[in-house]
Amino acid sequence: MSQQCKKAYITTPIYYVNDIPHIGHAYTTIIADTLAIYSRMAGLDTFFLTGTDEHGQKIEQAARARGKLPKEYADEISKRFKDLWDEFDITYDKFIRTTDEEHKKGVQVAFLKMYEKGDIYKDVYRGHYCISCEAFFTETQLVDGEYCPECGKPTTIVEEESYFFRLSKYQEPLLKWYKENEKCILPKTRRNEVIRFVEGGLEDLSITRTSFDWGVKLPESLGEPEHVMYVWLDALMNYLTALGYGTDEAKIDYWPARVHLIGKDILRFHAVYWPAFLMSLEMEMPKHIAAHGWWTRNGEKMSKSKGNVVNPKEVADAYGLENFRYFMLREVPFGGDGDFSQKALMDRINSDLGNDLGNLLNRVIGMSSKYSNSKITSENITKYYQNELDEVYNSIDKLEPLLFDMQLHRYLEELWKPLSIANKAIDQYKPWELMKENKEEEALALIGLIANILAKVAIMLHPVMPKTTNKIASSLAFEIDSNSYNKYIKDKELLPQFNITKIPPLFPRIEEILLNEATNTPEAKESTKDKSKDKEIQKCQDEEGLITIDQFFQTSLKVGTVIEAQEVKKSKKLLKLQVDLGEDRPRQIIAGIKEWYSPEDLTGTQVCVVANLKPAKLMGMVSEGMLLAAKDSNGLALIRPELRKEAGTAIG
Ligand code: MSP
Repeated sequence: MSQQCKKAYITTPIYYVNDIPHIGHAYTTIIADTLAIYSRMAGLDTFFLTGTDEHGQKIEQAARARGKLPKEYADEISKRFKDLWDEFDITYDKFIRTTDEEHKKGVQVAFLKMYEKGDIYKDVYRGHYCISCEAFFTETQLVDGEYCPECGKPTTIVEEESYFFRLSKYQEPLLKWYKENEKCILPKTRRNEVIRFVEGGLEDLSITRTSFDWGVKLPESLGEPEHVMYVWLDALMNYLTALGYGTDEAKIDYWPARVHLIGKDILRFHAVYWPAFLMSLEMEMPKHIAAHGWWTRNGEKMSKSKGNVVNPKEVADAYGLENFRYFMLREVPFGGDGDFSQKALMDRINSDLGNDLGNLLNRVIGMSSKYSNSKITSENITKYYQNELDEVYNSIDKLEPLLFDMQLHRYLEELWKPLSIANKAIDQYKPWELMKENKEEEALALIGLIANILAKVAIMLHPVMPKTTNKIASSLAFEIDSNSYNKYIKDKELLPQFNITKIPPLFPRIEEILLNEATNTPEAKESTKDKSKDKEIQKCQDEEGLITIDQFFQTSLKVGTVIEAQEVKKSKKLLKLQVDLGEDRPRQIIAGIKEWYSPEDLTGTQVCVVANLKPAKLMGMVSEGMLLAAKDSNGLALIRPELRKEAGTAIG
């Protein structure tokens, strides 16, 4: 996206209404929202579109399975999406539904235009259809002659009269477009994939169906009441109908889209079919189609049936919406897959946000209150700290291109450099010592430098964390908007003199994982009962021998102090220990270590204990834990802390 362009049209996919919103949907929407907020702040005339995709066989079946009419069901789920985005303060300009009358009219206008141009013809479709992906496949594309190559579900054989779009005609023009526009598909590796796919040859695309009727009808003038449009033609057209295409075209100037944000699973529809439809309609090409990766849970695709769906609202409620936004954009390189882990989220909050950002604000508030009566000035910054300032600008200047190239994780990584420059400067120049040495001017300039760095970081972080950064800005006595963006980022101005305001800590430390595995929908919780989660974890371990950090933290390891040890009579192997784990009573642990340790060796020493094992009975005695030990051909050795630690100290 370049600055010369005054308009920025940003879209998310429109979400199917066969499922309630999950973390994958939230991810796409949050990225789009971040871009939209940035674009507005940077002075671009921005239009941000999201919505729901409501037609097709999949939705019809989902509604029927619940004893509802498709529209009634679509109304319900569409509202769930809209409500969630409203609750998440998503700054969309329009929420489109494919059941909107204007949309349906617009799609019919487009169909007629392509038909009159000779790009649509009637024939019979014979082939395989995957209802779950709403996609056609040839015999050779199927797995084992029957299963969908995308989702693995069985396909159905379809033979029906159908209209076809001459996709094959656009093979060469598409290749030309990809090759001439290096950034048309982001990340670039995806562009190469698409080029290879199209070079493999394109077949004409069936774009109407007669075997069900939950879809947009063909234009009346064609006299084909039996046909409804293929759901992907209907859905893709939303990007134009939302601007009034075919009805009221007042907003059509927002076209072409600056970026269509999508997941990698729907790249073919967006990077092949959509540009071909646009060429047929003689519309300009979108600037970027940006495909992100998938969020998985314990390495597996999330799905209701597996019971491993992460509910974005539960995560946002537990950890804070904006912390969650930051985490999603920072944690995973755009385009790559990411495994959702609460531990990783917690670490980002405590470390990046709490330590690096929150503490810096606290430090500047504390220092200014101590040394300058909370007054902060930018005077003398350039006199003493020009180098630091130059380094800060060096990072800030790199940010915008990273954002518009969808390198959001790198954007945030680069944005953290000024924070580290600020933290380092405090440690290096030690304002408290400068004050002692009567170098007040230098100390106050340092405080001014830190405040200015915080202000610039707050502005550039604003699209990711709007409310949090507004709080930082209000503490620094300015507002984040296009004005301050131009002044402090573009024109590199420094803050005027102001009084800093103390605000409550922005990122209170999170000490423990806040959600148990109940980040699931009620349906998912049901299905957990059939142990699918256990199976899934088992599978993850079996296939790769790897576990996730969350799985690791399910084991509670603690330091214990052995307060008593006895032999177990008639047993060659067992000792009976009483181990203090800092709880209200010691644990009894029966350990098979008699061959290597005597009771005297153990009393008073420290051991490492697995503290959350289900109690087990050994020779009729209850054992309430297990000791960690390493055994090789020379015998067994207990694992112990290197230094004495309080009984009950967590290991991990
Ligand atoms: N209705 C179509 C899109 C039509 S756009 C003209 C559709 N809908 S969807 O609801 O199934 O998916 C919408 C988006 O959510 C896709 O971009 C998809 O990649 C994304 N995600 C769904 N699950 C996901 C994850 N687990 N992780 C990341 N994003 C994934 O496809």
